Amino acid sequence: MFKFPGPLLALNASRLDLIWRLGRVAESRDEQTGNHVVRVGSYCRVMAEALGMGRDFADMICFTSPLHDIGKVGIPDDILLQPRALTPQEWDVMRRHCVIGADILRQDVWRVSPMLAASLVGSPDRNTGGENPFLAMASSIALTHHEWWDGSGYPQGLSGESIPLESRIVAVADVYDALHSARPYKPAFPECTVLGIMKEKVGSHFDPDVYRVFE
Ligand SMILES: [Fe+2]
Ligand SMILES: [Fe+2]
Repeated sequence: MFKFPGPLLALNASRLDLIWRLGRVAESRDEQTGNHVVRVGSYCRVMAEALGMGRDFADMICFTSPLHDIGKVGIPDDILLQPRALTPQEWDVMRRHCVIGADILRQDVWRVSPMLAASLVGSPDRNTGGENPFLAMASSIALTHHEWWDGSGYPQGLSGESIPLESRIVAVADVYDALHSARPYKPAFPECTVLGIMKEKVGSHFDPDVYRVFE
């Protein structure tokens, strides 16, 4: 769990706009629905608030969850855009998007180049003694948003509360919106079908406490 230092981020409108657009870079490669990342961010904020996580956490997850699939920029088109079910070998490649995304978002650039960090006016890095909580949460979500509560997810097979709370929230929001949306390989399902599918995954895929709040 992250500790948030005081007023967390003074993200101005242009920065937020950049974040949404970065998230849409990833989704533009494999989804035609548009605004998936904006909806996921909004659902995550509402769930975080309902879980009593406070304003800073709710803001952070709203602004970082849209980057959950940014690692898909590193997945070849012939796998990412495949309309049929993937082979086991292709799945191995697809699963790499978590590590690729975490690598893109990790904080090393701030440590490697403190001059660059210091030159960015209003950087959150200035408020946190070198730790950038925005990148930390974004990287965490990118890495662990496909972990399952029962340990059968990927890439690390984490289980229960060893999965960061932000990723347990994103998992519910992401699956809900994906089931609701038409994709190349599936139609958009109606609400009752979506909730029926999701309910069967409580305790296996989803954290029961997070799902209760979502419902
Ligand atoms: Fe993903
Ligand atoms: Fe997604």
